[in-house]
Amino acid sequence: MKKILITGGAGFIGSHVVRRFVNNYPDYQIVNLDKLTYAGNLANLKDIEDKPNYSFVKIDITDATAINELFKEGDFDAVIHLAAESHVDRSITDPTAFVMTNVIGTVNLLNAVREYWKGDYDKKRFYHVSTDEVYGALGETGMFTETTAYDPHSPYSASKASSDHFVRAYHDTYGLDCVISNCSNNYGSHHFPEKLIPLAINNIKNNKPVPVYGKGENVRDWLWVEDHARAIDVIFHQAKTGETYNIGGHNEWKNIDLIHLLCKIMDQKLGREEGESAKLITFVTDRAGHDLRYAIDSTKLQEKLNWVPSLQFEEGLEKTVEWYLTNEEWLSNVTSGNYQSYYEKQYNHK
Ligand code: NAD
Ligand code: DAU
Repeated sequence: MKKILITGGAGFIGSHVVRRFVNNYPDYQIVNLDKLTYAGNLANLKDIEDKPNYSFVKIDITDATAINELFKEGDFDAVIHLAAESHVDRSITDPTAFVMTNVIGTVNLLNAVREYWKGDYDKKRFYHVSTDEVYGALGETGMFTETTAYDPHSPYSASKASSDHFVRAYHDTYGLDCVISNCSNNYGSHHFPEKLIPLAINNIKNNKPVPVYGKGENVRDWLWVEDHARAIDVIFHQAKTGETYNIGGHNEWKNIDLIHLLCKIMDQKLGREEGESAKLITFVTDRAGHDLRYAIDSTKLQEKLNWVPSLQFEEGLEKTVEWYLTNEEWLSNVTSGNYQSYYEKQYNHK
């Protein structure tokens, strides 16, 4: 029996990771720690919330006292850390929230692990889930590898770079068993509709303008979220201590091309005439400091741990659209704010 603390499990990627671990490892006890910020939605985990090997604890990782209390009692064998402020645009308007959660929150977890795992560092594992944005921006060519120098540009990526450095520092200084993965843009179900793909799906559905920053020339490398969760599973179980893995789908799209493809799929699914949804595309002021291009070289993960992405982007995007059109209640609860009362209703807390 392993007891694993997964932080940020009520969010987009975290909920896929929690679901995967709860379903695939019935002999593991999975504890989902989440503050339930605007991005945390326990309804994401409706299908597994009654499983005997799953539990939830509402904690803010910036609260060192609460984290220490949890570790004192918890006897965890591992931590998979995903909790973070994750939206670049929000980091531009409120950088401090990103420093607090992504840097201080991560250090609070590392300190608790350092205190309560003493003598067991070689038996327990701290896994930090990070982003390719720490590497900065690429020009027209090249790819990020595990040895690319860090060069973050946004307050979000600066905070994630800082937390990566702290994790490595605790490995080098105190001998903690740590692994880090840096992943490209994820897409799929349960994605909060402030990010490009779910925002565009929601707006197209409601005949609202689809905002494309600048000229839509920026390139992102998209990965099916369940492939990310599978990569985390493989790395968690097989990576050597201190290692870093890049995770990506070899799937680069210019934003404007992606949005045109999405409009085409939406036309088909909504029974609209071809070209109807594309009329909603609206070019807006560019994001400040907008990184031009991200592209991940995941050769190490593919060759060492035999991980390969499972889904072609066109197929994944169509599945994603179908999920949003089928799960109207999830989407309307998120856009209305009703989802925030799920915890009170389900867990009988005030
Ligand atoms: P998300 O915003 O959907 O979810 C973040 C979760 O963390 C939410 O449930 C939120 O309530 C929780 N959280 C935030 N602040 C907290 C705090 N102070 N204490 C406890 N919980 C808190 O994010 P996501 O897109 O699922 O990303 C998850 C992780 O993966 C992040 O660390 C992010 O940097 C990383 N990542 C994301 C992507 C992507 O494309 N979304 C790609 C690479 C890496
Ligand atoms: O690369 C990994 C990162 O991907 C993660 O670390 C972040 O947590 C995640 O949010 C994501 O960051 P991006 O900034 O790339 O994702 P976002 O969906 O916000 O934007 C994708 C691209 O689309 C980016 O070039 C900005 C652009 N965009 C975004 C929005 C929200 C638009 O053109 N219009 C929009 O309305």
